[in-house]
Amino acid sequence: MEADLTFLVVLSSLILSFYFILHRKFKASKPLNLPPGPPKLPIIGNLHQIGGALPQHAFRELAKKYGPIMHLQLGQISTIVVSSPQLAKEVFKTNDLALASRPYTLLADIVLYKSSDVALGPYSDYWRQMKKIITVELLSPKKVRSFSCFREQEVDHFIEFIGSNCGKPVIIRDKVTRMINNIVCKSSFGDNCKQQDVLIELVDELGRLVSGFSVADLFPEFGFLSVISGMRSKLRKIHKSLDKIFDDIFEERKNKRERNEGSGDDLLDVLFTIKESGSLQVPITDNNIKAIFVNIFVGGTDTSAMTIEWAMTELMRNPNVMEKAQKEVRDAFKGKKKINESDLQELHYLNLVVKETLRLHPSLPLLLPRECREQCQIDGYDIPLKMKVIVNAFACAVDPEYWDDAESFKPERFEQSSIDFMGTNFEFVPFGSGRRICPGIGFGVISVKSALAQMLYYFNWTLPYELSPKSIDMTENEGGVAIKKVPLMVTPTLYTSF
Ligand code: HEM
Repeated sequence: MEADLTFLVVLSSLILSFYFILHRKFKASKPLNLPPGPPKLPIIGNLHQIGGALPQHAFRELAKKYGPIMHLQLGQISTIVVSSPQLAKEVFKTNDLALASRPYTLLADIVLYKSSDVALGPYSDYWRQMKKIITVELLSPKKVRSFSCFREQEVDHFIEFIGSNCGKPVIIRDKVTRMINNIVCKSSFGDNCKQQDVLIELVDELGRLVSGFSVADLFPEFGFLSVISGMRSKLRKIHKSLDKIFDDIFEERKNKRERNEGSGDDLLDVLFTIKESGSLQVPITDNNIKAIFVNIFVGGTDTSAMTIEWAMTELMRNPNVMEKAQKEVRDAFKGKKKINESDLQELHYLNLVVKETLRLHPSLPLLLPRECREQCQIDGYDIPLKMKVIVNAFACAVDPEYWDDAESFKPERFEQSSIDFMGTNFEFVPFGSGRRICPGIGFGVISVKSALAQMLYYFNWTLPYELSPKSIDMTENEGGVAIKKVPLMVTPTLYTSF
């Protein structure tokens, strides 16, 4: 009897185990319901369908044929591309946590101290802690306001430069980039850095390499490609130079802090104080702080600078918008010699101009890619673990179902509308949305507005060489950031003295 009972128990346990194994196997092997996509070629997958055009344009064209959610094979990387505001909402809201990670990139591994930064780092307890620090301690509205003196100084220098070039054609890009980089430098380290020219060059180069479409990132299993393409050595060189610049700045600051001479409120001091407080759940190192500064420099410089250049380009192409924006600024500041940041609040139309610029010229048209960390579904399709997910923010911002005359520059479209760029209107996400939203919105937008307001207040602007507004070349450069291919050249003349 006892033997029978043991036999029964063993038998039922065996049956149960067998059932569970089969059940699991059946579940695991259930075919995934992936989104549709174009036919793929061996090895390169769909790369030939996006080569030749800018990826945001190529994806948009493919989406017209295959739908707002597509599955593409980009080299060895299986990728989902989402191109409609409705499905962007499923990425940023419904599945925000499941899709909160970033895919591995060689750039982040080498330059960003083993991906220990916020922008390209994978989702983890460490990442959550660092995102909180950057949002709450480094780039909070209060902190951004506290840097207004740096912005005012730098915009003044820029306006003086323009003033000294009145009547001559000027390429504004380099000076605008310098102005923004000086603001970022002073906010970060209390002053301009010693090797700032080198830093600007490195930041610029990184911005160009950040696309995630490099051969090394598309074929990660063929490690030799990163070597023969020269990518690995280029990234190592950039890393070495950046690391040295930061080491020198950090050492000088540590010495000052030992002598109680730290400034106490620039970003470096804030980070050192947090690091030394011992109160962090995940302790941080100097390298982690350096990774954050690379994010701040790369994220904060070219994005804002190129938004200013695109805004000026659109104003030159649309003289009626320029006239309206100048009238607003000149009425608001009438007779003032000095413009303060607090004066900018009155500039309602300029706000609309900035919004419309960010709609048609988002600095990162494909945002930064996400990676799936928990299987989920979008539009009823399966998104498996590790899948790369790209949201085509540019396609959403010109989706004719959401925007009238979507391709035209019309700031008035925002006049009676509550649509904003803070990440809740999925047809307009130039800063992303959800857990991965840009933490530098306030910092970036105020610099852009401040520079534009003063450019429009003090100067009249014309195109040199009798160029007509519609002949301005609007082509974007290749790469992850949508910088204007041909720099804008404009001729300022003084409207009022400063
Ligand atoms: C006009 C100016 C700017 C634009 C258009 C812009 C745009 C963006 C975009 C599109 C993303 C990716 C969001 C996503 O993947 O969903 C991003 C992320 C980020 N931006 Fe900005 N940005 C600007 C200014 C700044 C500034 C001034 C800083 C810092 C000082 C900054 C720091 C960052 C960081 C750290 C991230 C990574 C966030 C994350 O992955 O969680 N950005 N930005």
